[in-house]
Amino acid sequence: MQNFEYCNRTKIIFGRGTENQAGSETAQYTKRILLHHSGGSSVRSGLIDRVKTSLKNAGVEWVELDGVQPNPRLSLVYKGIEIVKKEKLELVFAVGGGSVIDSSKAIALGAVNEGDVWGFYERKKITGKALPVAAIVTIPAAGSESSISSVITDERGPWKRGVNLECTRPVFSILNPELTYTLPSYQTACGIADMLAHIMERYFTKEPHVELTDELCEGAMRAIIRNARTIFAGGEKNYHARAEIMWAGALAHNNLLSTGRISDWASHGMEHELTAFFGIAHGAGLSILFPAWIRYNIKEDTPRLARFAAKVWGVDGAFYDYEQAALEGVFRMENFFRSIGLPVKFADAKLDPARIGEMARRAVIFGPLGNYRKLEQEDVEAIYRIAAE
Ligand code: NZQ
Ligand code: ZN
Repeated sequence: MQNFEYCNRTKIIFGRGTENQAGSETAQYTKRILLHHSGGSSVRSGLIDRVKTSLKNAGVEWVELDGVQPNPRLSLVYKGIEIVKKEKLELVFAVGGGSVIDSSKAIALGAVNEGDVWGFYERKKITGKALPVAAIVTIPAAGSESSISSVITDERGPWKRGVNLECTRPVFSILNPELTYTLPSYQTACGIADMLAHIMERYFTKEPHVELTDELCEGAMRAIIRNARTIFAGGEKNYHARAEIMWAGALAHNNLLSTGRISDWASHGMEHELTAFFGIAHGAGLSILFPAWIRYNIKEDTPRLARFAAKVWGVDGAFYDYEQAALEGVFRMENFFRSIGLPVKFADAKLDPARIGEMARRAVIFGPLGNYRKLEQEDVEAIYRIAAE
């Protein structure tokens, strides 16, 4: 096990009706905030009105900036920074999914650091400070509610880039599973793929003696798969299944599950190119690429892949050897993704394989991807090709 330090400052406020605590929690930090959201689902559901009432009751004043799109854009971030500076706002409050939270983190960074905020995403700047960020989560997926990451798209490239900075970790996040009842099934499925991917990125390590976190990862993945099946079998409004998925989404990405381990992150690196080129939802990109990544690595550490097949996908001992068991595991994973309406191949999402060479070149622009196995450009290209078979 590697040495590690673990600290997660995000206060999680979980459960029914918790969005009504938005005002009282915010007032502990400041009474002047930027209220940031998409202007779409959270307005239609009445959530934004309830949040405003709660803020008002606590004496918190806000300036509103809506318009966040999935795969949030840098241009809106610049606009947010301008508003925060002009209005002297002191906290960025996100109401929405990962896209809104990531956009809020970028604004919080850009508002208090000199120069262009995009420098953080281009890795030209590596340290900084940020205004406090808080969130009400409406889709369990990215885990941005308690993570140090923010992923933004500079539409001029298009470049999709992520930054990891502790100062952007939300000070509190409100998670009410009932808010997820209105999710379209495709978005629910994308979120499930993303949180599974966040666990797999951590699970696939060559670090020995990480038994506790191995078991935590496997248990979390099993719980996600089981509760996803409940939701997709008519349980869209099953509070308990939604609650399990929502809490899993946060735990999948708050770094508890990577303590003492070396995580991989190659699949996320490859996926960012898929989103940048085709605008595909992040989770759907991952449901295409993760199985391909596993297939490419099947001979790299077959016992771990066979264990993954056994403990997560229930592949029993009837298989002839490790490799056969590992392959059966990937096969079951693909079937699970298909059963919840996700693509597992380029063709399923109508992605054009002609762009593979270019995507592979761009994916490794900062160097090889991954740690489980270092992936050079030719490896990345081979994985895209497996996904396009
Ligand atoms: O835009 P609206 O109308 O609000 O609709 C959204 C959006 O279309 C909809 N939605 C959200 N909550 C809803 C709802 N619809 C109905 N009812 C609700 N309760 O869902 C769609 C997707 O929303 P989005 O915020 O884009 O989803 P997600 O949370 O999956 O975020 C994806 C972004 O997060 C990044 C991804 O790359 C992507 O840009 N990631 C961020 C990470 C982080 N910060 O730690 C880690 C992840 O690996 C990921 O890369
Ligand atoms: Zn992700």
